Amino acid sequence: MKQWTALKIRQSKGATRLPCLTAYDYATARLVDAAGVPLVLVGDSLAMSVLGFATTVPATMEQMLHHTAAVVRGVKDALVVADMPFMSYQASDELALLNAGRFLKEAGADAVKIEGGVLRAELVRKLTANGVPVLGHIGLTPQSVLAIGGFKRQGRQPAEAAQLEQDALALSAAGVFAIVLECIPGALAEKITKAVPVPTIGIGAGAACDGQVLVLHDLLGLTPPESQPRFVKRYAELDAAILQAAKAYVGEVKGGAFPGPEHTYN
Ligand code: KIV
Repeated sequence: MKQWTALKIRQSKGATRLPCLTAYDYATARLVDAAGVPLVLVGDSLAMSVLGFATTVPATMEQMLHHTAAVVRGVKDALVVADMPFMSYQASDELALLNAGRFLKEAGADAVKIEGGVLRAELVRKLTANGVPVLGHIGLTPQSVLAIGGFKRQGRQPAEAAQLEQDALALSAAGVFAIVLECIPGALAEKITKAVPVPTIGIGAGAACDGQVLVLHDLLGLTPPESQPRFVKRYAELDAAILQAAKAYVGEVKGGAFPGPEHTYN
């Protein structure tokens, strides 16, 4: 049995902080798991960070299944959460149940994430009643960027803030094991965190959340600094390191220094 289950994450509220990360492949999933993250999210941010799209909207079920299965093969202890892509759960609850089932059965995920609050509470109830652990996601919901006009901070007006509180309460009453709060004011995230019985996992939502999540490519410094949100902290500069390594290789192959005798079979 894995060290982290959805139940354990739910019960960690108030006891331990949850440093979560995304991953999209076997190689990096192994490393983030070894680093001790309790939850690895195979985010539909895959569409942007790995596949080069401008938004998460183009991510497909087949892409998400393919990458989730790779992450599952790399993870020993963390809970693996698959992000349900745009239009894999919105059209009907039946479609949502079938697609969530594919993530658990075909890809080996431990849970799924869906975006939305009150609007999705009934679906969360059906998923959890049928054995699918669900991570909620409110605030900036990237699958709605075409409708809301971009990647914008949410919850700044009192009515919006009140709606987000209602969303969080509805999701926790419906059975989510935790809720992602994205791009909302720190004070609102703190209020929601105090109000709900499940952990909140913030991204651009300040320090009062029960956990944090970052997109791995942002943390590693693989995202161009100009398209990186303010809430990201770069813990490495892999873009520069990869460029330097690739340039060194190009130079050595052109100059004849690689491969040397030590890289050659007798
Ligand atoms: O797709 C993703 O990576 C996410 C996180 C930003 C929470 O939804």
